[in-house]
Parts: sequence; C-alpha cells; structure tokens
Amino acid sequence: MLIALTGTPGTGKTSVAKFLEKNYRVIYLKNFENARMYRDVERDTYVVNLEVIRREIEKLRNGNEKIILEGHYSHEMPVDMVIVLRCHPQELEKRLRNRGYKESKIRENVEAEAMSLITSEAIGYHGKDKVFEVDTTHRKEDDVAMDVIRIIEKRDRRFAPRISYMEEILKWY
Ligand SMILES: Nc1ncnc2c1ncn2[C@@H]1O[C@H](COP(=O)(O)OP(=O)(O)OP(=O)(O)O)[C@@H](O)[C@H]1O
Ligand SMILES: [Mg+2]
Repeated sequence: MLIALTGTPGTGKTSVAKFLEKNYRVIYLKNFENARMYRDVERDTYVVNLEVIRREIEKLRNGNEKIILEGHYSHEMPVDMVIVLRCHPQELEKRLRNRGYKESKIRENVEAEAMSLITSEAIGYHGKDKVFEVDTTHRKEDDVAMDVIRIIEKRDRRFAPRISYMEEILKWY
C-alpha cells in the first residue's frame, strides 16, 4: 500500500516523516533527482517529470507493506491514501520566512495553503474517501506523526478533509 504524505511547503512533511521512519518505510520524492527536467528560476523551484517518477513509484509497491511517499506532489502519484498536512497561513508565513524564502515564494505558498489547493487536487485525483488532513498549527512534529499513524492504521474519518482558511483570504481585501 502506498500512502502520500503531502502539503504546501513548510507544513512539516519532512519533519513529520522523520518520526514515521520508526514505523514505516519512507520514500522522499526529493531524492528522485533524475526526474528533474529544468530549474524554474522565476519561481525558484525545479520542474520534474511526473511520468518518470510515477513509473519508479509503481515498482515500489510491495503487497500489503505500508510505504509512505513524502513530498509536495506525492498526491499526484498512484497512491492508495493521501494525508495532507495543513498549517494556518499566518504560521506558515512565519515558518517560510524563517527559512529565508523570498517574498514571492512565501506569497505563492501561503495563498495556495489558504485556498486548500493540495487538498482539492488530492480529492480531484483520488476521491474524498481516500483523503485525510492533519492540522499542524501550534503543534509538535511528533504529535502530528501520531495522528498520521492513526489515519494509516484506522482510517479515522475524524481526519476527513474539512480544514478551511477562507476567512484569512477575506482579510487580505
Ligand atoms: N508541527 C510543527 N510545528 C511547528 N513547526 C513545525 C512543525 N512542523 C514543521 N515545523 C517547522 O516548519 C519548518 C518546515 O518544516 P519541513 O521542512 O518539515 O516542511 P516540509 O513540508 O517538508 O517543506 P518542503 O515541502 O519545503 O520540503 C521547519 O523549520 C520545521 O521545524
Ligand atoms: Mg520537506
């Protein structure tokens, strides 16, 4: 079984995945560097060939073994379950600023988070029943990891997609 651990940059995927390594095999999509096509200098990011990565991911499938795919496009992979990490836009802005991201990249990501872009994409690809969300705002990484384990092991629908930061967007106007 393949499980996507996704979310806007800065929501804590890598930090949480480190804790999950105790329980599961974790694959970091960032390591699929051979799939990188070119660098988008304007957006300060790499554009990757998703088809190349999808083919590699399909080969990983190993019966019932639960394998976690970590990365902000892991929900675009052929997975059986998607877990989206969420973060309140104000806190996300602080986290990205602490990382030294440039202003345009902070804005792009904070807007995407406020609009629930990744959750919408995940539901579009896989259907609502396979998608779960965990709020990481004001929480510790290990605590978030416990929720992720609960979702994987129990498919706990208390984590069904419902997080909305739309009221934050209204404050911008
Ligand atoms: N639950 C949390 N509470 C508070 N801070 C957190 C939490 N999770 C992560 N952080 C902090 O937010 C920052 C971003 O975390 P991390 O690098 O894990 O994000 P990411 O989702 O992997 O981002 P990217 O997509 O860019 O790789 C780090 O400085 C981390 O310490
Ligand atoms: Mg990361």
